[in-house]
Amino acid sequence: MEEIKIGRGFAHGKIILMGEHAVVYGQPAIAFPFPATKMEVTVTETSGEPTIDCAFYSGVLAKMPELLESLRKVAELVLTDLNQQSAKLKIKIESSIPAERGMGSSAAVAVALTRALYNYFGRKLSKKKLLTIVAAAETIAHGNPSGLDALMTSEETPLYFIKGKEFCPLTLNLDAVLVVGDTGKTGQTKAAVASVAEKIRGSKAEYYQKNLDNIGDLVKRSRGFLEKNDAASLGKAMSEGQKLLKELDVSSYELDHLIETADSAGALGAKLTGGGRGGCMIALASDRKKAEEICLELTLAGARATWIYEMRGIS
Ligand code: PMV
Repeated sequence: MEEIKIGRGFAHGKIILMGEHAVVYGQPAIAFPFPATKMEVTVTETSGEPTIDCAFYSGVLAKMPELLESLRKVAELVLTDLNQQSAKLKIKIESSIPAERGMGSSAAVAVALTRALYNYFGRKLSKKKLLTIVAAAETIAHGNPSGLDALMTSEETPLYFIKGKEFCPLTLNLDAVLVVGDTGKTGQTKAAVASVAEKIRGSKAEYYQKNLDNIGDLVKRSRGFLEKNDAASLGKAMSEGQKLLKELDVSSYELDHLIETADSAGALGAKLTGGGRGGCMIALASDRKKAEEICLELTLAGARATWIYEMRGIS
């Protein structure tokens, strides 16, 4: 029996601990891979036109809705690079990363699809090429990506990241536990990134630039708190970060509600994560028991899903 040729590519979600939005303007950010949520793309041969099958669309690749335009771009770039423009492919996307929730699902699908296509054609894929292709897709999805999502959904280590600079792997050895809560409402990264861009060009440009600088300072301090295993100070920095993000108008009613719930349940600090205006929030808990209590309160307050992430022994 003839073996079926199959290509596979994987990626995972990501969590930005501190620095979203400011990272687009050259400030540092701290983020880590979130392997509790995963993306898998499978590529096989088909006899007809190339097709794609995912949660949002199942049909011919060329007729995909505009929402998935960035995916079409990935396929086009990769197939052109591999000189396989007329290949008849069936692409299947399976994901446990909630879409448009600040967990990097758009970057993750671009990473997994690129990897699956190279794997299918038995060709080597350099990190540099992967990031270039994902950046092109993310420019369509987000407008002005920092590159953080592309890295974090494809790498295995937590990072201290500055756009366009050499990134720095971090070790997480914090005696604390992170809780992630999904508001169940889609985030609006593209709109939020565009609105921050408008603010820092507008009449209060200086004020908003200072806001971004302050987020950058918090990220630098947070790196020190992680190194010194100072969970209490990190929690405070997260809450300060949330105030600055709210001033940038990238939070939402649902995010604020879950963040206040986590605070009342005894979190050391809480903030939104990712692009905001919906999507997910994170809260720091002193230990697993407290994290479980916070998860319960978040669920009672309407969270669609919650996750627990141990901040110890990850490098
Ligand atoms: O919403 P997400 O998971 O795509 O994260 C966006 C993070 C931003 O800092 C707002 C944008 C970026 O490109 O870094």
